[in-house]
Amino acid sequence: MKYRAMAVGSDGLRITMESALTARDRVGVQDFVLLENHTSEAAFIENLRKRFKENLIYTYIGSVLVSVNPYKDLEIYTKNHMERYRGVNFYEVSPHIYAVSDNSYRSMRTERKDQCILISGESGAGKTEASKKILQYYAVTCPASDQVETVKDRLLQSNPVLEAFGNAKTLRNDNSSRFGKYMDIQFDFKGAPVGGHILNYLLEKSRVVHQNHGERNFHIFYQLIEGGEEDLLRRLGLERNPQQYQYLVKGNCPKVSSINDRSDWKVVRKALSVIGFNEDDVEELLNIIASVLHLGNIQYGGEDSGNAYITTDTQIKYLARLLGVDGLVLKEALTHKKIIAKGEELKSPLNLEQAASARDALSKAVYGRTFTWLVNKINVSLAYKDETYKNASVIGLLDIYGFEVFQHNSFEQFCINYCNEKLQQLFIELTLKSEQDEYEAEGITWEPVQYFNNKIICDLVEEKFKGIISILDEECLRPGDASDITFLEKLENTVGGHAHLTTHKLADGKTRKVMGREEFRLLHYAGEVNYNVNGFLDKNNDLLFRNLKEVMCMSENKILTQCFDRAELKDSKRPETAATQFKTSLAKLMEILMSKEPSYVRCIKPNDAKQAGRFDEVLIRHQVKYLGLMENLRVRRAGFAYRRHYETFLQRYKSLCPETWPSWQGKLADGVSTLVKHLGYKPEEYKLGRSKIFIRFPKTLFATEDALETRKHSLASKLQSSWKGYRQKTKYRKLRSSAVVVQAWWRGILACRRAQRRRQAAKTIRRFIKGFIYRHNERCPENEYFLDYVRYSFLMKLRRNLPKTVLDKSWPTPPTALIEASEQLRKLYMQNMVWGYCKRINPEWKHQLEQKMVASEIFKNKKDNYPQSVPKLFVGTRLNGEEINPKVLQSLGSEKIKYAVPVTKYDRKGYKARPRQLLLTSNSAVIVEEAKLKQRIDYATLKGISVSSLSDGVFVLHVPTEDKKQKGDVVLQSDHIIETLTKVAICADKVNSININQGSITFTVGQGKEGIIDFTSGSELLVAKAKNGHLSVVSRNNGGI
Ligand SMILES: Nc1ncnc2c1ncn2[C@@H]1O[C@H](COP(=O)(O)OP(=O)(O)OP(=O)(O)O)[C@@H](O)[C@H]1O
Ligand SMILES: [Mg+2]
Repeated sequence: MKYRAMAVGSDGLRITMESALTARDRVGVQDFVLLENHTSEAAFIENLRKRFKENLIYTYIGSVLVSVNPYKDLEIYTKNHMERYRGVNFYEVSPHIYAVSDNSYRSMRTERKDQCILISGESGAGKTEASKKILQYYAVTCPASDQVETVKDRLLQSNPVLEAFGNAKTLRNDNSSRFGKYMDIQFDFKGAPVGGHILNYLLEKSRVVHQNHGERNFHIFYQLIEGGEEDLLRRLGLERNPQQYQYLVKGNCPKVSSINDRSDWKVVRKALSVIGFNEDDVEELLNIIASVLHLGNIQYGGEDSGNAYITTDTQIKYLARLLGVDGLVLKEALTHKKIIAKGEELKSPLNLEQAASARDALSKAVYGRTFTWLVNKINVSLAYKDETYKNASVIGLLDIYGFEVFQHNSFEQFCINYCNEKLQQLFIELTLKSEQDEYEAEGITWEPVQYFNNKIICDLVEEKFKGIISILDEECLRPGDASDITFLEKLENTVGGHAHLTTHKLADGKTRKVMGREEFRLLHYAGEVNYNVNGFLDKNNDLLFRNLKEVMCMSENKILTQCFDRAELKDSKRPETAATQFKTSLAKLMEILMSKEPSYVRCIKPNDAKQAGRFDEVLIRHQVKYLGLMENLRVRRAGFAYRRHYETFLQRYKSLCPETWPSWQGKLADGVSTLVKHLGYKPEEYKLGRSKIFIRFPKTLFATEDALETRKHSLASKLQSSWKGYRQKTKYRKLRSSAVVVQAWWRGILACRRAQRRRQAAKTIRRFIKGFIYRHNERCPENEYFLDYVRYSFLMKLRRNLPKTVLDKSWPTPPTALIEASEQLRKLYMQNMVWGYCKRINPEWKHQLEQKMVASEIFKNKKDNYPQSVPKLFVGTRLNGEEINPKVLQSLGSEKIKYAVPVTKYDRKGYKARPRQLLLTSNSAVIVEEAKLKQRIDYATLKGISVSSLSDGVFVLHVPTEDKKQKGDVVLQSDHIIETLTKVAICADKVNSININQGSITFTVGQGKEGIIDFTSGSELLVAKAKNGHLSVVSRNNGGI
């Protein structure tokens, strides 16, 4: 598309514009004002048809919304749709009921002016649905508070209740409203709905007692019978079968496929409680509904001309209970009438026909008044309680019966059509007036358009003395034999010459053919309607016999006591007739509507079959005509097809002119002028007012719209690219500034932490110094930290420097306070290490250590060469099996050698050194020379062992002198003296018998002789006989072991 536009230039633009126009044609125009041929009804209907086919049910005529009932659910009422229309300019989005709702709401908010939305159209055209949609729109989109929520609920829930009691299935609509309704929604200064008020108009009471074929009574009767709980029906004396009730069988269609009475019943019950009905209210209300059904079933006996009597006593019983009245009095009142003549009460019996109509009159009166009571009750619940909201703004919704033309039209149609005349007048006046006002205000010259002013018809109906209502009232009130026919005659006499009224008598031959003799014809703005005068007087009088009224006034039913006021009995003045009441209430309604800014919704019914997708052109043409839509369009088009505020216009189209794009700095009017000149508007095509531009032809606007559409594409891509750039830049800036913020914070945090650490450190140092100063004092706050620290650091140091082995005696120096503890710890630790060590040693090592222990006990600090022996391990034996002569082993027999070591033996005489082996068995020490056992010393006889304290290896084994077997003590020398003697001491169990001597040892040589060994230290080991005959042993300083 971009390529084409570039290639073909201005031609391309034209083609694009044309295609946009074709697209618009397919779905018609959104606003009839834009129709090229605006005077053609056919073009108007064709536009409706096109749009209807596309499910576009809404179209504007300026600000009036035309709505065609789709007879199917369209997906156009969702919350999203509501949001789409919220706060958006009326013309910016496609036509919708929400646009009208939003426009009224915004006008109310911004201009602080009360609004009303007038919904009109014939029965089944969708008025009630439209009003519900508007209400829902406000409930969803308006701001709310807690209190407002309940008001919203109540506003919404008032609909099902009023529909149950005031709507019925008719031939035209399965849910036809049989009353007119005007509802005010009140908003506070914040725009939240805070309350509501309902006015009701002329309920079609006759439906209570009679329905045409194919129609039903009011929904509530069927809902109660279908949905009411067993228990409830029993209390009310009702059966679950509508066929049982005379008032429900007339139309012969108790069931309708589109209506689910049972579920509707539940909805109504819930709605009643939302509105604020308590159980008692509901019970009383249902008593009345049930009693109407019982009244309908009252049967009379008696001749046509004779007095009537009641044949159905059970009904009276139920009625007495349900209405809270005396059964006998009621019975009497239903068969007699009471007249007061000259102050005297006269009772006269009724004939069959009179009695039946008295009964029906009572039913109608009871139902009608109860309906009014219901509306009042709802109003109480909707009334806003807060005094501060006194100056609330209001949006009124008028959902009132449309123009009705039936085969037979009666009093009700007369009233309804009169109401529509009044509304049409209001519509004409307000739309024309506002249009005219606007041109005037903007300083635009304008030729007023001719239109049919229906004031003449309104006057014909309502004028004092001369109007139809006055004539009817007069006939109703005058004494004598007034009848419907005399009323007709009076009409002929009084207003017979009126251009909009004719009767059978007055009509020309052609008209006479289509009129009954009892009919008069009114030429309404919407068409001709023949009204049959039959029943006019009765319906206008709406009389209830006095005695029936009296009975009702005595009722104990709380609702009825409010409906039938005793003061009414005392009032001798005749009550206002129905038509006059209606006239007065309409006048009030007009006043209300005039004081507000109106918006219009004109509903159209597409076919009589209630079918989706069927567009009945004849039916629609008729409605277009009587809704005055063509006139509306004409008025709208006579001036200018379109108008926009300068600001809005400029805002929308400024992109089409280089001078106004992207923004216009000067005056708005100049900007618009520059813009339209650039667009090539001809002078006759537009006018500039004070604040608005007026465009005469839709074509001009279309061309501008299409140009905008084309421009949008190029703008869109430009916007897109700059938007993307902007977004990226903003994103980057945001990221950067975020990073800076994060950095700053983080730095701040770090600095805080540092400062905190420093503060903490200073505090610690201070405490430490103070503690140091006071360290010798008793524990006090000044030094406790220091002391604790010293202890702690000592313990930590200790932990790091614990001795690794049992022999490691190092131990950190404890502070004064921990000296004792340190000692304890040290002991414990040692014990623990020793214990651990012990646990780790094996039996051989244990044996070794035990021997070492023994050696230590014997020699430690006593013998000089002991220390050298400590690190050397003791061996099991120094001689193995091969080194010992087998003969020796043989002679030892079973005695096992525990230790063997080579030794040097010194003779007792001469001290000659001889090599020998010392064997230790379990019983004795044996000295062996080669294969000879030279000497055996039993351990038991071993008296002791002597060694020197020096480092020599000489030792003496002392044996008892008296032992003849022994040759005296034995002097031996071992290179492993410590090991050898330790083994001897252990084997012989002589640990305590080893004597360590200083200087010399004396030993016995035998036969009482003694020898002496002298020990001295020298540089060389030397064992030799000294000159004095002693054995002299010179041991090396730190010599052998
Ligand atoms: N906007 C809509 N969308 C779908 N269905 C609709 C719409 N409007 C009306 N209808 C259908 O048409 C029926 C008749 O509409 P509604 O009751 O609003 O008519 P009315 O104009 O109030 O008639 P009456 O004058 O008899 O009360 C509704 O029950 C519904 O089925
Ligand atoms: Mg309705």
